[in-house]
Amino acid sequence: MTASAWSRRTALPRARTRRAVGLVFLLALLLSAAPAAAHGYIVRSIPDNRAVLERAPARLQYWFSESLEAAFSSVTVRDQAGHVIATGGVSGDNAALLSVRLPNDLPDGAYVAELRIAFASDGHVVTDTRLFFVGAAVGNLEGSGATTQADPLEVLWRGLTLAATLLLLGTFSLYALVLLPAWGNPKYAAGLLPPRVMRRLSLIIAGALAAALLGNITAIIQQAMVLFNAGPGQVIEQNLWSIARAGTRFGDLWNARVLLLALVAGLYGLSLYFRDEQPGLVRPTWTASAWAMALVIGTFSAGSHAAGSPLLPWVGVFVDWIHALAVGLWAGGLGVLALVLPVALQPYAGDDRRAALLAVLPRFSRLAVVCVVIVVTTGVYSSLNWINRPADLTQTAFGGALALKLVLVAGLLLVALAHHIALRPEQYTRWQGIVRRVQGFVPTLRLEALLALLVIGAVGLLSASPVPVPPLPDDVPPPPGGMQAVDDTAVAVMLTPGGPGVNTYDVRVTRGGQPLEGANVRVQWVNPARDWRSRWTVAEDAGGGLYIAAGAEIDRAGEWWMLVDVSASDTRRAAFAWDIRTEAAIRQSRDPSGLNLLALLGVAAALAWAAYPFARRVYRRLDLNAANVTIVLGVIGATVLFSIIGVVVIQNTQAQYQATLNPPPAVVNPTLPDAASLARGQAAFAACEWSGADWQALVERLPRTRDETLFAAARDGWRSLPPCAGLDDAQRWDVVNYVRSREG
Ligand code: HEM
Repeated sequence: MTASAWSRRTALPRARTRRAVGLVFLLALLLSAAPAAAHGYIVRSIPDNRAVLERAPARLQYWFSESLEAAFSSVTVRDQAGHVIATGGVSGDNAALLSVRLPNDLPDGAYVAELRIAFASDGHVVTDTRLFFVGAAVGNLEGSGATTQADPLEVLWRGLTLAATLLLLGTFSLYALVLLPAWGNPKYAAGLLPPRVMRRLSLIIAGALAAALLGNITAIIQQAMVLFNAGPGQVIEQNLWSIARAGTRFGDLWNARVLLLALVAGLYGLSLYFRDEQPGLVRPTWTASAWAMALVIGTFSAGSHAAGSPLLPWVGVFVDWIHALAVGLWAGGLGVLALVLPVALQPYAGDDRRAALLAVLPRFSRLAVVCVVIVVTTGVYSSLNWINRPADLTQTAFGGALALKLVLVAGLLLVALAHHIALRPEQYTRWQGIVRRVQGFVPTLRLEALLALLVIGAVGLLSASPVPVPPLPDDVPPPPGGMQAVDDTAVAVMLTPGGPGVNTYDVRVTRGGQPLEGANVRVQWVNPARDWRSRWTVAEDAGGGLYIAAGAEIDRAGEWWMLVDVSASDTRRAAFAWDIRTEAAIRQSRDPSGLNLLALLGVAAALAWAAYPFARRVYRRLDLNAANVTIVLGVIGATVLFSIIGVVVIQNTQAQYQATLNPPPAVVNPTLPDAASLARGQAAFAACEWSGADWQALVERLPRTRDETLFAAARDGWRSLPPCAGLDDAQRWDVVNYVRSREG
């Protein structure tokens, strides 16, 4: 029995449980890292860029495809003379909304909004300028648009840390999956490989750890430089890097990464320190380090573009992680092979050298083939996250970086193919020329490793470049607004963005042509189709006759009424009716296209194919007698069935609860309760002769009484209150609106 067969039989069961535990731990930890999400972009702005407005809006609002770092994002508005007229930041109600309130009555002219946006997921900082004109557009004023170039220092640290991280994963996984099974020999106690090989591997680990540390230090300094718009000296002297580290999402991921790297360095140190007394410690510590390195790569994916994708971010992060893991096993392994083989083969020549080579290379090649299939399928999926049309590839910084990467990948795959052929000469008899050319393997392995390094350099550029902005819907309805004059009072309202979800409402009130300040302005939302109304919200007096509020009352499309009561010496009612459309809602996500789903299927097929040998081994060990199979299938069936029943029951209960809470009304109020309806209602109310205790009781329960009930009361009477005589339905609805206005 050979030494390696011996080491495999004894070590295997222990290794498998360790792997299973490691995998569960890994998945749990990665799932705990919330997506974040990466370079984002503006999905909606009110006003639109370069909009020409009759009058200045109450505020500027910019919705982004993902959350922003509030401490590092701002908007500064300047007039055409360059004076700062307002500054704003991230809204308290919506972390993806940057807004600034404007002073009242801005004169006609051009205004520039300078946006500084720090995206929460990866800390990328983008500056952008947007213009709007009050009155008329002004000459050749141009906004500078969003920054599109990658920061060279970021490209550098991303390339360096990625290369070092992938090399570390490559070292530990190649050691466990290829070198040990191929060359493992119990006579070498410390690590089961010849000391010269272990020394070279240790050197690679030490070098890669140092490079990873250097890269991560550069990362946090570069991040603080862009967040604080400061130079490296200032960042270090004023300790700005530790604010970026402690106070941002980028910092969270950085901390996790450095912690894990410290763990790996600790394990490595442990294996070195005890290699003479406890030689058996080398293998488990290195195998554990491989798992820790997979987590380090997870921190990159959790902060990668994929995390901010509008398309299934969780799936995007997972696919990016699998992509980078497969790259680590393949390209990382390749780098280690290119560095270790010269040392490992040194004592050998001729057939011995070839035998030692062929003990390792076919094993690595099998692993590499699986990794290449996974890398390509996951790479295609990740690309389709952002490349939605040819122009995204040809006309954006991201597309350019991806194209550069793909050219290098093509070269890499060609060399890999040549190695694949050379290792199976009997299968490729027609390609003997290639077999002869690469038969030494070491020089061409170096070339392949170099190409892989260049690809990772291109990845540094790719992940530092802003993503292409996907095609945004162009059928977005303008934000609903309106103006109503009630006697001497004019009420102008604007609802933004004006779709289902969180909205801001600006109410501008003038009396006798002058801004009405210090009034009590209340807003209520009514969904007549469901006879549902919100509580009254008191709008905040922003001065200059502007009153503002925000809320998520509008939870679906359809007809909605906005009631505005302005109380100063007396109360004036304005009412607006809008058809709220889903298109107006801010969409931060998009549905997968057929191509996305196909690419996902490709990833699933590649993973199933890769897992097949393991599944088959597990399957063979299973005792598939009829009883076991029936029990297993029964349990699976029951779990699925009960989950489906559970979901259906919950949904039904919720629907029933909603239907009990708010049953569809038998009759729907067709009359907007504006000032005219209240006046008509007040006149018609004379016909009701409602007074006394029951009238009092009705008024008290108005907040929880539906219009259909009031309508029935006007038509049929209510308790001792008689029906309102001689009214038609339209008058009854006016009475309903008038009675409701008596609420409170
Ligand atoms: C057909 C082949 C490939 C395609 C289409 C592809 C595409 C991509 C895309 C779109 C990303 C996400 C980048 C981002 O959004 O920041 C990515 C990430 C990455 N790719 Fe590839 N790739 C391919 C092959 C490779 C190869 C051969 C390597 C290495 C040798 C590689 C290394 C990486 C790494 C390390 C990342 C992770 C970056 C991160 O999470 O920050 N890829 N790839």
